Amino acid sequence: MMMATAAMAASSCDRGDTRKKLQITVVFLVRTLLLACIIARGVLALIRVAFRVAVVAPARSLVAVAGAAFSAVNARCAWCLEQAALGRSCTGTVLGDAVVGAMASSWRLLLQGITSLVFLCARGADEYVRPPPSPLVLTAHGKPASHPQQVHISMVGEKNMRISWVTDDLNAPSVVEYGTSPGKYTASATGDHTTYRYFLYKSGAIHHATIGPLEASTTYHYRCGKAGDEFTLRTPPARLPVEFVVVGDLGQTKWTASTLSHIGGGGGDYDVLLLPGDLSYADLYQPRWDTYGRLVEPLASARPWMVTQGNHEVEKIPLVEPHAFKAYNARWRMPFDAGASPSGSNLYYSFDVAGGAVHVVMLGSYAGYAAGSAQHRWLRRDLAGVDRAKTAFLLALVHAPWYNTNEAHQGEGERMRRAMESLLYEARVDVVFAGHVHAYERFTRIYDNEADSRGPMYITIGDGGNREGLALKFIKGHKSAHLSEFREASFGHGRLRILNETSAVWTWHRNDDQFATVRDEVWLHSLAAGEPAATVASAAGGGGGHPADEL
Ligand SMILES: *[C@@H]1O[C@H](CO)[C@@H](O)[C@H](O)[C@H]1NC(C)=O
Repeated sequence: MMMATAAMAASSCDRGDTRKKLQITVVFLVRTLLLACIIARGVLALIRVAFRVAVVAPARSLVAVAGAAFSAVNARCAWCLEQAALGRSCTGTVLGDAVVGAMASSWRLLLQGITSLVFLCARGADEYVRPPPSPLVLTAHGKPASHPQQVHISMVGEKNMRISWVTDDLNAPSVVEYGTSPGKYTASATGDHTTYRYFLYKSGAIHHATIGPLEASTTYHYRCGKAGDEFTLRTPPARLPVEFVVVGDLGQTKWTASTLSHIGGGGGDYDVLLLPGDLSYADLYQPRWDTYGRLVEPLASARPWMVTQGNHEVEKIPLVEPHAFKAYNARWRMPFDAGASPSGSNLYYSFDVAGGAVHVVMLGSYAGYAAGSAQHRWLRRDLAGVDRAKTAFLLALVHAPWYNTNEAHQGEGERMRRAMESLLYEARVDVVFAGHVHAYERFTRIYDNEADSRGPMYITIGDGGNREGLALKFIKGHKSAHLSEFREASFGHGRLRILNETSAVWTWHRNDDQFATVRDEVWLHSLAAGEPAATVASAAGGGGGHPADEL
């Protein structure tokens, strides 16, 4: 009995021992684990600190140093490249200039090569080959950095004028002083400035200031940014007559210079210039926007230049420059937020001239135009607001032509035509001007591929003088050939002189001639003033003068 009790006690004692051991082991394990955790955390923290000290900090300072070095070198480089593009010395040594010149050229060639390649791949190998272009005319700014350059003006409503200019000095004030006598400024207006970066390029300060209200048909003298030369502008008339110059695909070649001299001198005076797209042909190489601005300044600072975009304004490079129209929108700001029907986009807008006797609609070939798009809705709204009892002439501009018998750019405007032609027809638009094709072509009045006396006359005037050369081949058996009344592949410009409520005369001035001579002339009868007989005979038929009672 005793033995049994003792054995039981021993066994229970054994069990107690085992439990204790187990407890100790568990506690030991847990403690070890905790300790391991603490050590691991410590080690990790140490590693993190070490990583920060040894890798992140140096990398950051390296990036910062590289960034600082880059901006310092880039500014100098961009300036050097521009100087080289202008054919001027920037290093002071022949070898240095040669290196910089080679860099500038290879950079341009690389970019243009890439775009051409992309273009070719996208378009197939049947791209029309144009004859050799004429040399570029590159215009320099030989004045201090605070002095204005690239001055151009545009109408903002009928009483105000936007003055746009560039200064290399980013701190130059955005002020325009103006008055009706030279040197005597009785008023001033302050605007603002913007800049943009495009890959390695950084623009100067692009200033915009709106002056007014101004008197119609009046010469004003003005100075930009309180520095540099005085400029002179003349405001458009408050009533008819009014004269427009129309010129597309301008570029900056010797042909451009000749066109500009014909517009500015030989061709006679004008009130407003209309440009249906393709301005500088900078084609991604941004200093060309600056040289272009300087080339057109003598004319564009004196009369309003109203422009719309062409394909050469897009300048989008996937991944690198994803935003289209960067340079165009910054430099060529148009009155899209003014007038009776603001569009909300610099790519399409409308404006009135001559007290509303002329309404001009600037369309965007490279903005959405399909039914339901913002542009389509705006156009419908804009045209609905036009009162043809007051608006004698209704003009529209677009880049890619809706009617075209030239081999170049065949069919490119077709989708837009299908989307918008009926809107223009119903509003009785008098003339549709287009660019894009580097030749001159005038059609009869058309609606939906048929001659129609109530449709617009279509004129392609993409022959300003760009570096790509002329589009020489017209297609003989083209389905629109019977609608085409005059076509010629020569550089030049056109003029639309609106004489009164019923009559206007359109002339095309060819460039081949030393002097601006008229090569094509046609009289137009306003579609608001009753039914015209035929395009050419309309003036001879005389005008009834009664406004159309329905649109
Ligand atoms: C408009 O001008 C044309 C051309 O000079 C002229 O024949 C016509 O009579 C004028 N019409 C009016 C209403 O003045």
